[in-house]
Amino acid sequence: MKFPYSEKVLEHFRHPQNVGKIEDADGKAVEGSPACGDMVSVYIKVNPEDKRISDIKFESYGCASNIATGSIITELAKGKTIDEAKNITWKQASDALDGLPPIKAHCSVLAVEGLRSAIRNYEERHGLVKEKTHTTVETVSKRLKRVMNPLTGLDLVRTNLVKEIEVKDGTVRVVMDLPPDHQFAPAIREEIMEKVEPLWDVDKVEIEFTV
Ligand code: FES
Repeated sequence: MKFPYSEKVLEHFRHPQNVGKIEDADGKAVEGSPACGDMVSVYIKVNPEDKRISDIKFESYGCASNIATGSIITELAKGKTIDEAKNITWKQASDALDGLPPIKAHCSVLAVEGLRSAIRNYEERHGLVKEKTHTTVETVSKRLKRVMNPLTGLDLVRTNLVKEIEVKDGTVRVVMDLPPDHQFAPAIREEIMEKVEPLWDVDKVEIEFTV
């Protein structure tokens, strides 16, 4: 059978580089693809002196294209400064893989988004965010659109699991349409915390589960 993939994609899919988790990561992110419901986690270690990425790992719950892009993008980002790594595009990643079928473009977008979010997470945790816009309901909703609902593989917002978002005096309140004892409630809580807590002007995140 002829695969619609380049040799490079197959090579990186079969022998992906930098797979795994960094326990004491300086920045990390889980990104979900609104297009297919797959997910990728990216972990980075950053040298505080020159802001270069000294180590990077990823875990993919996506398809072959996503694994191959995760592999290539972590190779491209390693040793770069966070500002340089932020500017790596999905097109560069896909070119480095000798191209991906157009229907698979979102898979490389997902890997690139994962890298950018991990860098963003590092910047937020280290007070390095330059454009300090105030957090609004819109900001929170955007972040929740990147958290997958494990029941459907679609994001929390699109599957109407988010009942209410309130932003007031540094406190973000999220009300979820899910019973508190639901099997996925702890995982969802943790992911919302990870996405919302690092925002520079957020002091407290309250998550309620209720039906
Ligand atoms: Fe979901 Fe490729 S189809 S990441």
